Amino acid sequence: MKRIRSLEFRRAAAPGGALALFAGAALFSAASGVAPASKEEGLAAFETVRAVLQHPRCQNCHIPGAAPLQFDAGLVHGQNVLRGTDGNGAPGLACATCHGTANLPASYGAHMPPGAPNWHLPPPEKKMVFIGLSSGELCRGLKDERANGGKNLDALLKHVDSDKLVLWGWSPGAGRDPVSISHDAFVAKFKQWVVAGAPCAP
Ligand code: HEC
Ligand code: HEC
Repeated sequence: MKRIRSLEFRRAAAPGGALALFAGAALFSAASGVAPASKEEGLAAFETVRAVLQHPRCQNCHIPGAAPLQFDAGLVHGQNVLRGTDGNGAPGLACATCHGTANLPASYGAHMPPGAPNWHLPPPEKKMVFIGLSSGELCRGLKDERANGGKNLDALLKHVDSDKLVLWGWSPGAGRDPVSISHDAFVAKFKQWVVAGAPCAP
């Protein structure tokens, strides 16, 4: 409460927003330029983040099982594709056998293997599961640096802003719907959640 009050005070004291911007920038450099947000605003912003993370284009790779999923219905990937020991597929059936570093031209039609640089799953010891979790579970798992590959909030923000596998969700290739919320709106809500202190629902 104390922190929120002091941020509100700064906002009130600086109608131009300069001080308020500075307060956010000092905490999270990557989130600079975002107005301070209350815990409630942060929790609301996370619901948009959640809708993206749990969209089929994202959660089909962020799975608890041994095989990636396909399509909006999340069906088990065909061809007996498996995660393997490092997320790149089983020996002899690496993701890169079929998935290139970019989508194939739209003229090839639907059902082509989509592509993006380094197409793979998280490794089995850090699965980074998004699918089937409550808002609070998803939020806590996302922030857990032992589970997410050592990413603090700043690193997470950079990841969702510019990682190639993330960006693929907005240009997923012919026959697949992109994530339904725009990438800009997603990143803006992610920043708002971070600036609010990255609160999680119970
Ligand atoms: C082809 C599989 C694949 C797709 C599709 C994918 N990811 Fe990931 N994601 C990964 C891998 C692998 C990692 C582990 C980090 C790495 O190796 O870059 C990861 C890591 C992450 C992380 C950090 C881990 C954590 O739990 O904090 C976030 C956040 C994330 N992805 C968000 C997304 C979003 C958002 C989308 C959809 C727009 C998406 N991912 C789509 C494979 C994928
Ligand atoms: C034998 C070829 C082959 C291999 C190996 C393969 N894939 Fe695929 N994958 C495909 C094809 C083809 C599609 C498109 C299916 C369609 O749209 O009908 C696809 C689609 C996908 C999708 C679906 C995207 C979506 O949202 O619907 C994901 C995710 C995926 N693959 C992940 C992987 C991962 C991760 C690996 C390695 C562990 C892998 N694939 C290995 C051929 C392959």
